[in-house]
Order: sequence, then structure tokens, then C-alpha cells
Amino acid sequence: MPGRVYITRPIPGTGPDQIARVAEVATAPLDEPMEAGALRDALRRADPTAVICMLHDKIDASIFDMIPQCRLVANYAVGFNNIDVAEASRRGIVVTNTPGVLTEATADLTWTLILAVARLVVAGDAVMRAEAFPGWGPNYMLGGDVSRQTLGLVGPGRIATAVAQRAQGFRMPILYHGRRDRPELDALGGRRVDLDILLAESDFVSLHVPLTPATNHLIDARAIGLMKPTAYLINTSRGPVIDEAALVKALQAKRIAGAGLDVYEREPLLAAGLAGCENAVLLPHLGSATFRTRDEMSDLVAANVLAMLEGRRPESLVNPEVWPAGEAAPRPT
Ligand code: GLV
Ligand code: GLV
Repeated sequence: MPGRVYITRPIPGTGPDQIARVAEVATAPLDEPMEAGALRDALRRADPTAVICMLHDKIDASIFDMIPQCRLVANYAVGFNNIDVAEASRRGIVVTNTPGVLTEATADLTWTLILAVARLVVAGDAVMRAEAFPGWGPNYMLGGDVSRQTLGLVGPGRIATAVAQRAQGFRMPILYHGRRDRPELDALGGRRVDLDILLAESDFVSLHVPLTPATNHLIDARAIGLMKPTAYLINTSRGPVIDEAALVKALQAKRIAGAGLDVYEREPLLAAGLAGCENAVLLPHLGSATFRTRDEMSDLVAANVLAMLEGRRPESLVNPEVWPAGEAAPRPT
């Protein structure tokens, strides 16, 4: 099955070239998010068999209506809350993501935030650049401990497990919250507990859930209120998992010790007041942003597209129900 593939933004790596050997590939010209209208127009003109999209592209019924030939939406991300998967499934459209290849990079960045927020790395750097270092002092810029503190992982998937592996070197007791026991976390000394217990007992609460209606504002004012005043909240998952306005209030009131954030509720915007919170370390959604990881995401997104174009079932299927194992490729409806 020959096909046309549209990529909504230039991506690194050789993925697009790999696809171009068997299909026509067109890529949006600008390295910036397209707004909804422009995305719809570009896709309508391209009339693709497969779309490679970014986490900022909202792919819903209004988009599917523009691309009647489309058999596959391949997200260049592990999180796929930007795609209306139920609607894709109703139309027999396959959805894929890029799990696995970005696990280590995202776990590394989670640790970057843990250490940076507890040990005042960003504030310390600012002092030096301002040439405002008064010299070593017994009471100067004291932060929180990391070693031997309790790490609470909300959402016990691949990334949480990689974060827990790194915590072994810091001798941290591990709590996790999820629907079922996870042998791989239990093997690292993890203990599965209710969310409220995790919030009350952890020194670092790190979020690794996908964004769904059930996890939207999972961490709200009530949840933050359960945390220790000495605890830190870390988020490398999706912004709307935290009620950002409630977090700003808690940070301003020093209800918790700090927050390390890589993702935001109305990305790329910040909640009012967040930029003024000195007890927050704020990164611009860099979880998977390493050269090698983005290349591997490029290879994986290409493998997903090539599988589909060649009539094989893609490995990282998000909606396996549209293509049961052993059956022929779904016919779009
Ligand atoms: C990044 O946030 C991703 O979901 O891949
Ligand atoms: C995502 O890859 C996760 O399972 O945490």
C-alpha cells in the first residue's frame, strides 16, 4: 500500500527519510506549533494516509473529517492526551505513540528537578551570575535533603520505575500509587499505598501518570494540603495533572517546600504568580529533549508508520482494539 505521510513539524533523526523510501512524505515548513485552523488546512491539502503529529497538535473529529484517507495517527510523544483516541477508534484509525525510548531521558530529567529544587541549584546559579555571593556561611542557602528521604511515585509505569532505579543510589524508601502491585517497583523496595498516604508520607512526590479525565487536577488544593510542609512536588508528566493555581497558592504560602516542574497546565503559558515563586524550578518541557532520545523517537515513529504502510501491525499501538493481533489491518469507516 503506497501512501502519503504528513509530518506536522520538522523532527530530528532519519525517521522521515526512512519513510520516504516507500511513501511520499511532506513536512510542515515551520519549526513551530500550527494553530488549529492552519493544521486543519495543511492536513486537508495533504490528504495523508498517515499523520505524524506533535504533543501540541489537538487531533480530534474536526481533524479526522479533513483527512478521510487517514489510516494512522502516529504521535511523536509517549503521552497521547492530545489525540481523541476514542474518536480515532470509532473511525478505524490506528493511533501509535513512542514509549520506551524516552524513559531514561525523562527519568534523568525528573532527577534533575529533584536535585535542583532541593539544593537550590537555580537560585545559587543566579546569585553567582549577579556577583552577589557573600561568601560561605553556616546558615547560607540551606536546602532539603535528598538521600534517605522518601520518594513517592504517582503512576507506576516505565518512567516511574526508571526514577526508582536511580533512587537506589540515594537510599530512598519508595512508595508508589497505582491500581495494582508492580513487581518491578516492589523489587526496588517499593510499597504500594493509597494516594493520600503517599502524599502524607513522601518527601518528594513525583508524578508519572498519563493525562486522562481521572488524572486531571489529581493534585489539587486538597491533595497538596496532605503533603508535608517540607516536601517537594515534581511533575514531568502532563501539566493539567496539577491544579496550577492551587500549587501557586501553596508555594506562595510556603505550604510545601517547593516544586520542580517540566510541564504546565496551559503550556506554554504559566499560571499567574508561578514565575515569582522562588521555591519552584521551572523547565520548558524538556523530558525527552536529548539528541539521542529524539533520534530514537524518530526511528520509532518511522517504524510505526512503515509497519502500517506495509500492512503490519505497529508495535506501539495505543488503540489495539482497532487492530486485534492476528487480524488484517482495519478498514477506515
Ligand atoms: C513528552 O511529553 C511525551 O509525552 O513524549
Ligand atoms: C511512560 O512511558 C510510562 O509508562 O511511564
